[in-house]
Amino acid sequence: MKQKIFLTRTLHDFALKELKKKFEVDIHTGKIPIPQNTLKSKIKNLDGLICFPYDKINKEVLQYAEKLKVISTFSVGYDHIDLDFAKENKIRVGYTPEVLTDATADMAFGLLLDSLRRISEGDRIIRKGKWKQIYGAHDYVGFDLQGKTLGIMGLGRIGKTLAKRAKAFDMKIIYHNRNKISRDEERKLGVKYTKFDKLITQSDIISIHVPHTKETNQIFNMKILKKMKKTAFLINTSRGKVVNEKDLVTALKQKIIAGAGIDVFEIEPIKKNHPFMKLENLVMSPHVGSSTKETRIQMAELTVKNLIYGMNGKKPIYSVGY
Ligand code: DGY
Repeated sequence: MKQKIFLTRTLHDFALKELKKKFEVDIHTGKIPIPQNTLKSKIKNLDGLICFPYDKINKEVLQYAEKLKVISTFSVGYDHIDLDFAKENKIRVGYTPEVLTDATADMAFGLLLDSLRRISEGDRIIRKGKWKQIYGAHDYVGFDLQGKTLGIMGLGRIGKTLAKRAKAFDMKIIYHNRNKISRDEERKLGVKYTKFDKLITQSDIISIHVPHTKETNQIFNMKILKKMKKTAFLINTSRGKVVNEKDLVTALKQKIIAGAGIDVFEIEPIKKNHPFMKLENLVMSPHVGSSTKETRIQMAELTVKNLIYGMNGKKPIYSVGY
């Protein structure tokens, strides 16, 4: 008898074909995200689970799993999975780093470029028929990237790749990370380590690349936003909960900082009446950091491989916890 797996949402056809060769496959087709109660009842008889970053794979759900061997998430982030509970119960967890590094760094850089040069704002002005005058000395002025200091908060794979993009635009790059990287690597990337406080006060643009954990929860709050330069921009492609959204709204409204570019939100999708909607100095994208055709294919391949490894009792290719 084939082992049973469940996907909380469908994947590419090639991935489903591969999975169906090996396992009995069940796919959630209803409301996204899958309701917690449906997940609880499904998980009981599963050997493997493929999930997405918005699914809450917490203790309340996992306690219903009677024989689950592996959880394979279609994401680099795994803050939606209770890793301690998974480890205690010998459930493997696979995730998808590396393959999405370039795409996510591109997105962060895109938001940075858009924020400083007001591309989306200009697009809104034109579409709303508000482009009245042409080419004035003070019209729609943005900022140069060249010579600006980019502060990278979290110099992992994505942070390092962003540094390469920024170097090509002649930006100065400082970073803060739990661990300093080697002098040699710092030289190659053209980056300089700095304490968190200095990163906050010296950066013209701060780009966040830390995972969401207890320690990073809402670290970008009013206290920190107030320490940033008034002319600074905040870019976030990591997780919405790393920023206190209410404080960011106030900071943008009151021009405590100049602007922000964000791909991630505390609760996604945001509601139509969210205060972000009214802010002209904010560029938003709908959590699409890794969403390129090429990258999503590679993520699907890796998600399937991770699952298969776990189902065979092995550690997934990219594994966290057990
Ligand atoms: C992830 O994979 O966790 C990212 O949020 C995708 O953009």
